[in-house]
Amino acid sequence: MNEPTKDVRAKAAYTLKRTALCGAISAENVGSEIVLNGWVARRRDHGGLIFVDLRDESGIVQVVFDPRVSEEAHRTAENLRSEFVVGVSGLVRRRPHGTENPSMPTGEIEVVAGQIEVINPSLTPPFEVKREVKADEKVRLRYRYIDLRRDEIHECLKLRHRVTKAVRDYLDNLGFTEIETPFLTKSTPEGARDFLVPSRLQPGRFYALPQSPQLFKQTIVISGFERYYQIAKCFRDEDLRADRQPEFTQIDIEMAFVNENDVMELVDGMLEAAFHAAGKRYPRPVPRMKYDDALENYGTDRPDTRFECRMLSLNKCFKNTEFRIFKDVLKSGGEIRGMKIDGGGAMSRSDFDSLNKKAQELGARGIVWFVRSSGQLTSPISKFLSDDEKKNLIEASALMDGDALILIAGLRKLCDEVLLALRARTAENLGLFKKEDISPVWIVDFPLLEFDETERRYKTLHHPFTSPTDDSLEILDQDPLKARARAYDIVINGMEIGGGSIRIHKRDVQEKMFEVLGIPPAEYETKFGFLLEALQYGAPPHGGIALGLDRLVMLLAGRETIRDTIAFPKTQSATCPLTGAPDEVDPAQLKELYIKTTYE
Ligand code: AMO
Repeated sequence: MNEPTKDVRAKAAYTLKRTALCGAISAENVGSEIVLNGWVARRRDHGGLIFVDLRDESGIVQVVFDPRVSEEAHRTAENLRSEFVVGVSGLVRRRPHGTENPSMPTGEIEVVAGQIEVINPSLTPPFEVKREVKADEKVRLRYRYIDLRRDEIHECLKLRHRVTKAVRDYLDNLGFTEIETPFLTKSTPEGARDFLVPSRLQPGRFYALPQSPQLFKQTIVISGFERYYQIAKCFRDEDLRADRQPEFTQIDIEMAFVNENDVMELVDGMLEAAFHAAGKRYPRPVPRMKYDDALENYGTDRPDTRFECRMLSLNKCFKNTEFRIFKDVLKSGGEIRGMKIDGGGAMSRSDFDSLNKKAQELGARGIVWFVRSSGQLTSPISKFLSDDEKKNLIEASALMDGDALILIAGLRKLCDEVLLALRARTAENLGLFKKEDISPVWIVDFPLLEFDETERRYKTLHHPFTSPTDDSLEILDQDPLKARARAYDIVINGMEIGGGSIRIHKRDVQEKMFEVLGIPPAEYETKFGFLLEALQYGAPPHGGIALGLDRLVMLLAGRETIRDTIAFPKTQSATCPLTGAPDEVDPAQLKELYIKTTYE
């Protein structure tokens, strides 16, 4: 083989190999000769001297190019631009008195360059590599490798690593085994659409990417691994939101011989460790709230309990009302729902007007507001209400001086949706919580089923493998909606972080469940036959949970979107601007898979 020419070798390798890290240099290194490798973060030309902030993963240090020290290095430094990759050798010295930078960890010292090597120049980056940028997210995702150099996003991924490690260590200490489960599998019913993968060897057949490892993890526990976990990739083809991705990661857990309490305690301990790894405190003991109470008091099963602002039903206060709007709504089967705003007396008329506008945008006819001060109620509708009604209203809502009350009349679902949106907005405006507050709550005592009006059939609130409570088994036929599930969700600051349940571990109960859901035997045999069979070969009682890792990191990092916690996330329209996925494929590939597209 020919020797590569000198030129090519120089291009392929680099000569100045690091002996120190930018962020790790301190006053202790003064007087040492070091070699740094990194990226040019900033270059400032101060007449004679050139200052370069050199960045590597550990941090930033100032490098000074002085023509009196090396004319050649100074000349090269004149041509340096942002994001050039360089090697620099030089002497660490204390910065001259008065030029120290206390806001920089290495601000006491600087490196006087003796030699510099441009290892790889860079095109001008499409946005600056700094903590906060204004660049459009699409552009950031298109150049994600540059975006990931920014502290803000880089730190999210570092945090994700620490949290994942803390979770693994915690579970490992408790005797859990991490086991991988297949990606090419059959559909698991978690309520979303599947991503399908055509099979070449089985023409006309498809694998489904797992929505969760639910069926496999149950099978694993049946096979005698009593404590399973997996940091598991899941795939769901659903509409995306700030806290949803089509491809996301679960901390997936399953255990034999446990009850609800065992799982919840385990998860609280695990979250404590995860929060600790993020330098935060997970407040224990975590309160438990019944599903019905969550709905009554917060209008949702994912309540943000960082602040009060409870909702309440006020139909009783207005049962004999002469106020036309309320009267009509009550007559037509609607409700009067209220929300107490603690300290809301401080709100101005225009604050209430803007809430009213928001409520209308969300589909309500509007809001009615009340403020209590010096024992008296003030409201635009005061004159339409009797003294008794006002008295009842104060009593029912325990309204104190300085509080406000907002009412919405209409169908319950809409009232709650609108109040929920106003609740978050108002709490933020009034500063009722601090951004860094952490308020977890376990939601328990879920109904097993709900009735889907469009499909005219029962559906599970969790999934069909969730065990009904013992009492509920008996009423499953007569009164399915009264049946309760052995399920639990962990909600933190209004975000569902995880959900799980004790499972059905007997074949006959599982079959009964499928029947109630209107799934015919032929269908459940095809879809879940293997699980039904496994349940007959010594399946122990078991239960588990899955937590959304991306969501957890989003919460711990205080980010507004889940995308910041994922190295290569998809956009809201499920595309990847970096790679261009999803993409068209070669017709030959489709032919091999027996696929014809009808999309023009
Ligand atoms: P579930 O469907 O509730 O339960 O999912 C568990 C947790 O996963 C997270 N999650 C998501 N995160 C990001 N993007 C998504 N599209 C997404 N969907 C869900 C949430 C959620 O709480 N097999 C059951 C668990 C069990 O019963 O053990 C399951 O998957 O944080």
